[in-house]
Amino acid sequence: MTLDVAALRADTPGCEHVIHLNNAGSSLQPRPVAEAVRSYLDDEIRGGGYETADARRGEIDDFYAAVGDLIGAQPGEIAFLDSATRAWQMVFYSLDLGEGDQVLTTTTEYHSNYVAYLHLAKRRGVEIVVVPDAPSGEIDVDKLGGMISPRTKLISLNHVPTNGGLVNPAAAVGAVARAAGVPFLLDACQSVGQLPIDVEAIGCDFLTATGRKFLRGPRGTGFLYVSRRRLREIDPIIIDGHAAPWSTRDGYELQDDGRRFEVWEQYFAGKVGLGVAARYAKRVGPEASWLRIQHLASGLRQRLAGLPRVTVHDRGAVQGGIVTFAVDGVVCRDLWTALRRERINTSAPRVATARIDMEDRGLPGLVRASVHYFNTDEELDALTEAVGRLTA
Ligand SMILES: Cc1ncc(COP(=O)(O)O)c(C=O)c1O
Repeated sequence: MTLDVAALRADTPGCEHVIHLNNAGSSLQPRPVAEAVRSYLDDEIRGGGYETADARRGEIDDFYAAVGDLIGAQPGEIAFLDSATRAWQMVFYSLDLGEGDQVLTTTTEYHSNYVAYLHLAKRRGVEIVVVPDAPSGEIDVDKLGGMISPRTKLISLNHVPTNGGLVNPAAAVGAVARAAGVPFLLDACQSVGQLPIDVEAIGCDFLTATGRKFLRGPRGTGFLYVSRRRLREIDPIIIDGHAAPWSTRDGYELQDDGRRFEVWEQYFAGKVGLGVAARYAKRVGPEASWLRIQHLASGLRQRLAGLPRVTVHDRGAVQGGIVTFAVDGVVCRDLWTALRRERINTSAPRVATARIDMEDRGLPGLVRASVHYFNTDEELDALTEAVGRLTA
């Protein structure tokens, strides 16, 4: 199936205003998502927050089925959180990690995850073990297998790092984790909406993602998948009366589904919008989206590599929609700002967002152009022309 790009662009009001190549930052919302959020907020303004939630309960609850459907999970395995980070923290801090327990991760780990490892290293003596890369850049799965020991209590890594085009071999990692019986937490923040995700095929126990990136949902939204296998084993680090209704004077009962990781007060308009975004992504087609994203990204890498003094820095045996590059003698953040002035949206990841990888590769910065299926060859030409001109 090929995508009707003209129709998808017509469904994306932002395409009329900007060349948006910052989909790994926050994508452009399609019309149905924006309309769902707007109409929900309008109802709240006119009718009251609690009353709107009652009236629109069906749409709110559809969030769980919609997200589950997109990633091959049951609705009861999904929780709504306000960001990928919060979803990730709910799992990580709930695991019973202590002195000498090892967390295995990658060189490209995202800063917020890595500082949480450091936090528990400091507070509880947890040991962080960084698995080396394969020569092509993604996690070396053979080495990972060889590094597992009785002290390994968690395998935790990103599916797609924030600062480069590679895709980590999540299903191969999942196979290693399952064989060893070690919990596997997959940060799929940059992959959900970009490539097809099937949690069973991947074999992860936990998966976290955000709404605003390739999924094209509203800001301030994220979700957590917790497999049924692990749900009952894991005691949430913090609870409220929604996660665990106060059932007797001296007791509470944890929800028997993903809601045990939620809080009662939620951004309901966003939750509805995220459900709509998940259904939209499914309707567009994860396979066709992924093919087009890969095609556009590889075309962009070729274009940029043809410019004088430009180096494309993406690694990975499999590469996705995040294209990173630098220009000799040019400060990446200056180029990013200059492109923004021309209404070409990119971003400029700093060293601290993925410190191990950036330092190991000696990269002081990068410009990141991240494509989505609604981008066009003309937009890639425009970026390439602007980079050439602005750095001449
Ligand atoms: C790989 C990765 N993980 C996690 C996050 C955090 O997502 P959020 O800002 O929704 O918490 C990001 C955001 O850029 C990311 O790129």
